[in-house]
Amino acid sequence: MHHFRYAKGQLYCEDVPVSELVSQHGSPLYIYSSKTLVDHYSRLDHALSDLDHLICYAVKANSNLGILNTLAKQGSGYDTVSEGELMRVQSAGGRMDQCVFAGVGKTEQEIEFALRKGIYSFNVESIPELERIDRIAGRLKKIAPISVRVNPNVDAKTHAKITTGTYENKFGIAFEEVEALYARIARMKHLEIKGVQMHIGSQLTQVKPFVDAVRKMLPLIKRLQASHDLKFFSIGGGLGIVYDPALASGTAKWWKSSEAKGILTPETYAQKLVPLLKPLGLRILLEPGRFIAGNAGILVTRVEYVKNTGQKHFVIVDAAMNDLIRPSFYEAFHEIVPLKRKRGKSIATDVVGPICESGDTFCKNRLLPPVKEGDHLALLSAGAYAFTMASNYNTRPMPAEVLVQGAEHVVIRKRQQTRSLFRGESLPEW
Ligand code: LLP
Repeated sequence: MHHFRYAKGQLYCEDVPVSELVSQHGSPLYIYSSKTLVDHYSRLDHALSDLDHLICYAVKANSNLGILNTLAKQGSGYDTVSEGELMRVQSAGGRMDQCVFAGVGKTEQEIEFALRKGIYSFNVESIPELERIDRIAGRLKKIAPISVRVNPNVDAKTHAKITTGTYENKFGIAFEEVEALYARIARMKHLEIKGVQMHIGSQLTQVKPFVDAVRKMLPLIKRLQASHDLKFFSIGGGLGIVYDPALASGTAKWWKSSEAKGILTPETYAQKLVPLLKPLGLRILLEPGRFIAGNAGILVTRVEYVKNTGQKHFVIVDAAMNDLIRPSFYEAFHEIVPLKRKRGKSIATDVVGPICESGDTFCKNRLLPPVKEGDHLALLSAGAYAFTMASNYNTRPMPAEVLVQGAEHVVIRKRQQTRSLFRGESLPEW
């Protein structure tokens, strides 16, 4: 569900016409709906109310301080993967003791930072990392709270670049090795075993891989509980969202239509998983990113040129793969709609950016209403893995970001100044 909809032929974010935001703040522009963020958070929170649980929002999905702060007010925890993300959480008013820290390559500096900040747990991905954390904790005279990321070797059946739970991937410790490893950790002086973690992949649209992975983990966790004082089991993130068509189903019918299409809802997720998890008596952690932020954002872009080659109809816009890389990188679908509803026969259109690569394409041969120079289009479902994956490729400044709440809005990140992109560079003296 989300709060982007048409009223009187105009696209609104909550109670604000998107065109007004673009006139005020320029293009390209990321726009987020705080109501959508909160709705998604609460919906998941509510679905899991039978469990002692903590939602640790995956910061990598959208790490803007304004977004993190909105979730902090809901009591959210955070799944982080770098010192930078931990710093962001702290600056946004989030609780460090509700942060987990994941990732296969934590540096010494990052581990020390996280230990000093008193995070909830490290999600450890390898034996050398365990040894490193133990050593640093010893030096700081601290006890490091840890859980091991278990690789359950379950195929999440999602895009190859975002599947993580099989032995083909670099993540976690192989399922068969975990028990012996916990026995070894128990003997390490500066580590405290707090839990067990898993994450099998992202953009999962069926509940079955989650159920399969949890079922596989249960006997292992029970055996671990017999000899270790486990506090939590983190089942990771991965809940998928509807990208196509995000707008057509409308706000009210959203969840119903998702269910009808067999797409995963928080209720189905909870209905299948809560009965399996509850008997463990552990605190259950979740690490959703996309589910919370994905449908809460759009990227607005201006039509610069319409180019008809006879063979193809290109709409060249001012946003590019550096602003939103998902279509180029994962062949991801993002619905594209005009800010003002258009009449006229749809045309098979390629919406492309200005970057000198054929991959700089948002869609190919998609039936879109006719547009002209100066019109604006919105790329929907651009709240997660969109701005956070943006770059300055082609020395393009990153777009501004705006957060809407009701009829109000606030710029939560200013548009980058082009000169700031090379301010830290210098001419060689020789
Ligand atoms: N926990 C761990 C350990 C993760 O690696 C991830 C995502 C999450 C939680 C959150 O997953 P989510 O709930 O958002 O699915 N850039 C890609 C997605 C990469 C996901 C990486 N890990 C995309 O644009 O589709």
